[in-house]
Amino acid sequence: MNGIRPISDPSKPKVYIETYGCQRNVNDSEVILSILQDAGYVLTENMNDADVILANTCSIRDNAEQRIWGRIDQFRLQKRNREGVVIGIVGCMAERLKDKLLEKVDLVAGPDSYRSLPQLLKAITPETPQINVLLSHEETYADIAPVRLDKNGVSAFISIMRGCNNVCSYCVVPYTRGAERSRDPYTIVNEAKVLYENGYKEVTLLGQNVDSYFWKDAERPDRNVNFAQLLEMVAKISPELRVRFSTSHPKDISDEVIYTMALYENICKHIHLPVQSGSSVMLEKMRRKYNREWYLERVAKIRSVIPDCGLTTDVIAGFSGETEQDHKDTLSLMEEVVFDSAFMFAYSERPGTLASKKYPDDIPYSLKTERLNEIIALQGRMSLKSNEKEIGKRLKVLVEGPSKKNQKELCGRASSNKMCVFPDMGEKAGDYCEVEVVSVTSATLICKRI
Ligand code: SAH
Ligand code: SF4
Ligand code: F3S
Repeated sequence: MNGIRPISDPSKPKVYIETYGCQRNVNDSEVILSILQDAGYVLTENMNDADVILANTCSIRDNAEQRIWGRIDQFRLQKRNREGVVIGIVGCMAERLKDKLLEKVDLVAGPDSYRSLPQLLKAITPETPQINVLLSHEETYADIAPVRLDKNGVSAFISIMRGCNNVCSYCVVPYTRGAERSRDPYTIVNEAKVLYENGYKEVTLLGQNVDSYFWKDAERPDRNVNFAQLLEMVAKISPELRVRFSTSHPKDISDEVIYTMALYENICKHIHLPVQSGSSVMLEKMRRKYNREWYLERVAKIRSVIPDCGLTTDVIAGFSGETEQDHKDTLSLMEEVVFDSAFMFAYSERPGTLASKKYPDDIPYSLKTERLNEIIALQGRMSLKSNEKEIGKRLKVLVEGPSKKNQKELCGRASSNKMCVFPDMGEKAGDYCEVEVVSVTSATLICKRI
């Protein structure tokens, strides 16, 4: 017996999807939804009336996976209480754990297998769960128009590439997402155009390492496209459409990209440039392929070309063998750069990675936490310091909607990606406003209207 009602059923089968992990997964859920809608499913936001319950999952750290195991137990309760419900795990954890998940769920699908979801779902029976975890060298879902899941219709993600060819020794992503491949630039520009025509004002171009984006035109090498050129092509759609991108890799971010950013007002002046550690010894072991000096030189270059450029980062505390001095090097780099904000993590050993085979996870949990807390506290002070420099500046903000704390105020981001709040004068999400910064906290710029 098929677990799902047939597509011809007038009340279409309902799919519920939860998304974990990074922005790339948010965009992938939109691709999944597009594929399933074409196959006759409709989205439901209520798990209790779903026929298909999916979790698009993340494996980046052990705690990300633990959270999902907990969710699977809750999904299974749905299955117990309602006949015919199907539950599936898709995304990075599906790819990493493969058939180990089949004991618990009906469907396991990796990041390159989403086109097969309708067939897989159809084939599920109580006795035969379905799995597809094949990775591809070509799949970019270039022809699929993602069904936007964002609520405000202002800002959308566009995947420009998939996979990763770096082998940072701590990282599971190359194993869960496969080899790097770039997407046809003309499909990217077209997707951005359609978004703009539908009222969107901001697109974020996504890749694990956007600087290594490269489209090879098989017939016309003069039509090859690198990341700087792609940025320019998207920026030219309209000066009213903001362009953001993530993530940049310190070893690959080129001067050409920095100059292109400076050339176009609508390319937002923000770079997410994960440093991971301030110690060259750790960076070497992490196989990041740059050292402290290289990183600081890239920051200096960015700031010399774009003085107000927003800079954010990722930091890992307690990687294998990290000494007190390595940790101090991270703190001193953070003080030197003064990042606007940072994502900060305790190192979590991932099975199968180079580090798990070569480098013992030898920093005790308590010491990792202690170092992480020190990093978080320092970043709090640096965020405040970075925001204080904005006082008195005039900024152009893209309105996102009412501020969460005060309904009489609006919130939105400056080009630098800093969050601003300011008095509501009747603008709507998607409008641009000019504001002046009057005071700050470590998280927000408090502005007046001008
Ligand atoms: N492609 C991006 C980000 C990938 S994952 C890049 O190259 O920077 C996002 C962040 O998670 C990483 O930047 C890193 O700081 C963190 N991370 C990755 N693996 C980790 C691990 N095993 N333990 C702790 N943090 C990790
Ligand atoms: Fe992971 Fe490194 Fe690739 Fe980023 S660049 S996804 S940290 S392997
Ligand atoms: Fe993203 Fe997590 Fe996968 S960070 S790429 S969803 S492992």
